[in-house]
Amino acid sequence: MMNIAIFASGSGSNFQAICDAVQNGELEANISLLVCDKPNAKVVERANDAGIPAFVFSPGNFSSKEEYESAICEQLLKYGVQFIVLAGYMRLIGSYLLSKFAGKIVNIHPSLLPSFPGKDAVGQAIEAQVKVTGITIHYVDEGMDTGPIIAQKAIDLFDGDTREDIESRIHQAEHEFYPKTLQKIFQRVTHDNS
Ligand code: GAR
Repeated sequence: MMNIAIFASGSGSNFQAICDAVQNGELEANISLLVCDKPNAKVVERANDAGIPAFVFSPGNFSSKEEYESAICEQLLKYGVQFIVLAGYMRLIGSYLLSKFAGKIVNIHPSLLPSFPGKDAVGQAIEAQVKVTGITIHYVDEGMDTGPIIAQKAIDLFDGDTREDIESRIHQAEHEFYPKTLQKIFQRVTHDNS
């Protein structure tokens, strides 16, 4: 069974969806750790409720990205983490962590990449007046949402949609699509290693 860590910074609805999928057997993985860079984030509460250990840190308390990523790595080693799943982690992964987990970090982004990378992808889609946006699951490299794409799902935008309407449709799609795609990725990785 794949031993994973989930990295998140906010509400953690995707963290929750992944936990639920593990619980009901749809996703064969063991969530051994939450890594969170925002001490007051709701996702920390969710991890406590689910009985999942959390490593919560404030980047400002460290002198560099390498220093806090080395503290993260220590925790990942301690918990025997094999794969990192980013779920609303609003921070670029640095070279330290990337070198230790090459090809073993995935992210979900609320747009059809390469359109609308970076912050507020939904706001960017609204601003561009596109009729279709979506979600992308991709491997993480040193760029901002630039790694190899694994899977994408399109979501239609309709006249009169509010930002809340769009965000809610995107979240709904993410909650279904992320656990399913992770299951496929882990099956493939386990198969390739056997
Ligand atoms: C999700 O929509 C995720 O795609 C997005 O943050 C949200 C987190 O929601 N990620 C990014 O924008 C990454 N660039 P959640 O905390 O409720 O899971």
